[in-house]
Amino acid sequence: MQKGQLVIKPLTKAVLPVAGFGTRFLPATKSMPKEMLPVVDRPLIQYAIDEARAAGIKEFCLITARGKDSLIDYFDVAYELVDNLRQKGKQDSLDALEPSSIEAGSLVALRQQEPMGLGHAVWCARSFVGDDPFAVLLPDDLISANPGCLAQMVEVYNKFGGNVVAVSEVPIEKTSSYGIVKVSNDDGKLIEISGLIEKPKPEEAPSNLSVIGRYILSPEIMNYLAAMERGAGNEVQLTDSMAKLIGQMPFHGLRYNGIRYDCGSKAGFLEAQIAFALKRPDLKSSMRNILKKYACEEEI
Ligand code: UTP
Repeated sequence: MQKGQLVIKPLTKAVLPVAGFGTRFLPATKSMPKEMLPVVDRPLIQYAIDEARAAGIKEFCLITARGKDSLIDYFDVAYELVDNLRQKGKQDSLDALEPSSIEAGSLVALRQQEPMGLGHAVWCARSFVGDDPFAVLLPDDLISANPGCLAQMVEVYNKFGGNVVAVSEVPIEKTSSYGIVKVSNDDGKLIEISGLIEKPKPEEAPSNLSVIGRYILSPEIMNYLAAMERGAGNEVQLTDSMAKLIGQMPFHGLRYNGIRYDCGSKAGFLEAQIAFALKRPDLKSSMRNILKKYACEEEI
């Protein structure tokens, strides 16, 4: 694709950083990756891969760490299980396994030996990325949207190229928990971004629009990440290197259509269970009854 002088390469690669400790979910995450926690019956990683596939992604790179091998096994063929289910004629269970199959050679896993921050995790994917644009999806941001959030961002990317991030409004008193954008133009949906600050105090925040865990990035970001500058929380922040791309190439924020569940927090994770169960024809009615039961108890 070409726009003026700007060549817009198709987006086919995604990086999924999953090397964090997931401390907010201890003790559950002591021996299992946060990204394997299920929402209803699918692990968080499955939702992220599904969203990426629906947006045209063909190659996946997991940035993993010690103790996270179950994430890689999840995408393997479970021979004994499949054989057993076939023998018993359990077609429904075989069908349930289908989304976890992935084309041979299309998923790689790289190790981040120390959780030095999201920027460092993304930098670990530099050889996978090469000279291509790439998406970053944080699986603990679960987004219910149709079309998917990344697919909506790809539409913007295919028009403008450069970098695209998904943004969402946060209460101004909470800006110090997020990467916040400075806006130079805002048509209510698409935002031209003129600055990015990681975890600003409310009085220093340029807006209340936060970048959430979906990014389309240009490979040039790797040059800035390589400097390994430490930012907020003494971590190598992705936001700080993204900020350096602003002015050099298009940088847009998208107010996507959809609902985000912060599954990195307990309340967000529990809300996602309810919301996703209510969308399932097989669970909707029992979930409603459960909610009624506990809503009544609350009143007593
Ligand atoms: P989070 O801070 O939300 O995840 O990072 P965490 O560190 O695992 O969780 P808590 O805060 O201790 O509960 C956002 C994403 O970036 C990844 C995490 O795995 C998560 O998907 N990450 C973060 C890395 O891969 N490496 C890092 O060094 C930091």
